Amino acid sequence: MMCFQLSYCEDKDEPPMNPSQVSTIQSFNSGSTDNTASGSDQSVTPRSTRLRKFRYPSFSKRSTNLKEFKLYELKSATNNFCISSKLGEGGFGPVYTGTIKSQRNSAKDLSVAVKQLGKRGFQGHKEWVTEVNVLGIVQHPNLVKLVGYCSEDHEKGIQRLLVYEFMPNRCVEYHLSNRSGTLLTWPMRLKIAQDAARGLAYLHEGMDFQIIFRDFKSSNILLDDKWNAKLSDFGLARLGPKEGHSHVTTAVIGTMGYSSPEYLQTGRLTIKNDVWSYGVFLYELITGRRPIDRNRPEGEQKLLEWVRPYLNDQNFTFIVDKRLEGKYSRRSAQKLSLIANKCLSRDPKSRPTMSEVLEMVSQLVEAQSDMTPRTPLQGQDAFDEAMKAGEGERTSNMGNEVKTTSSVVGDQAWFSGMWFWKPSITC
Ligand SMILES: Nc1ncnc2c1ncn2[C@@H]1O[C@H](COP(=O)(O)OP(=O)(O)O)[C@@H](O)[C@H]1O
Ligand SMILES: [Mg+2]
Repeated sequence: MMCFQLSYCEDKDEPPMNPSQVSTIQSFNSGSTDNTASGSDQSVTPRSTRLRKFRYPSFSKRSTNLKEFKLYELKSATNNFCISSKLGEGGFGPVYTGTIKSQRNSAKDLSVAVKQLGKRGFQGHKEWVTEVNVLGIVQHPNLVKLVGYCSEDHEKGIQRLLVYEFMPNRCVEYHLSNRSGTLLTWPMRLKIAQDAARGLAYLHEGMDFQIIFRDFKSSNILLDDKWNAKLSDFGLARLGPKEGHSHVTTAVIGTMGYSSPEYLQTGRLTIKNDVWSYGVFLYELITGRRPIDRNRPEGEQKLLEWVRPYLNDQNFTFIVDKRLEGKYSRRSAQKLSLIANKCLSRDPKSRPTMSEVLEMVSQLVEAQSDMTPRTPLQGQDAFDEAMKAGEGERTSNMGNEVKTTSSVVGDQAWFSGMWFWKPSITC
């Protein structure tokens, strides 16, 4: 899915970068911060920023473990960027699979994905810098690991490459499409939702500074050999607002169908934009549909508009991905949809933080594992029965956490505050 850029106010240019000094880049897109922004929407500031002070990071002072590769090493790793090694091509440029050979021990050979800034790559150099800066500093099991980078300038042009750990099971978007022969089962979808929430919660609340991902979407959630989900593509990420400020003001960039209405309308970016995108993603997991799909009949092209009439009635199962063939718990799917709806609150202040989302999704994952069948399950009723039994157990064991679950389930009043927006700018 292509990225878009709408111009409300352009990001200020990044300072020129010395390619041999990647680890000393200071700006990490903080140049776009609107330092004058504050005031009325101050309360958009996430709870975590109110609880503790964020230090605004100087990346120059942080060490990275990134390896600087020579172009010839990456040519050799990818069989000279051979077409048969090509995994795909996004906004940045082509991506190749390859192997970094260990000179001493072939058992230590490393499978990698090499992203090459394409000549047509419109995300470009600035995004390359951001990606190196962010992933050079942040590390988490639910973020794709950046192994290193390559930056060489030749007479024929510049070379900018990124080297990641290889994620053999591709991206979530692929497996939700008809292209994949692998079905993502309901428990797998819940686990993916949990992994992705954990990754986002870490970016928002897990460090002494805050990162807004800004391009959260199913094609940026990659799957490793054990189907653990990890976020990738940090080229559009931004530092959160400085202390005392409610948002950063940026050019509106993102992917069609994922950006929050307030960001599209004002260019004011907060972590609540990521929370909105996460809500859209949950509906992708539930329905198996893309946020915007021009190949569908009119009326079904925009996912959020299509699902809306089915949410609060008996027809809910109509929107659940048919490829699941009924092998899911209806209660679990409805609860996930309620979490999605909270993320999609029109008012950003009403959206939960990602740590709150993580807690809610984790409870669904636990309930799912509690219902692992002891006898073969037959159909929807058996799933629902097992789901109920699992919840009973948790009621007695988990005290406070159940409160959150019941608030998710019982939050029917929420429907009145549900998103209902007519995107005036895009889609
Ligand atoms: N670390 C990785 N391991 C395996 N495949 C990857 C990795 N990074 C990207 N890819 C694949 O490369 C292709 C292009 O990815 P990308 O440049 O991120 O574009 P987009 O996110 O716009 O699809 C996608 O098919 C993606 O699944
Ligand atoms: Mg991507």
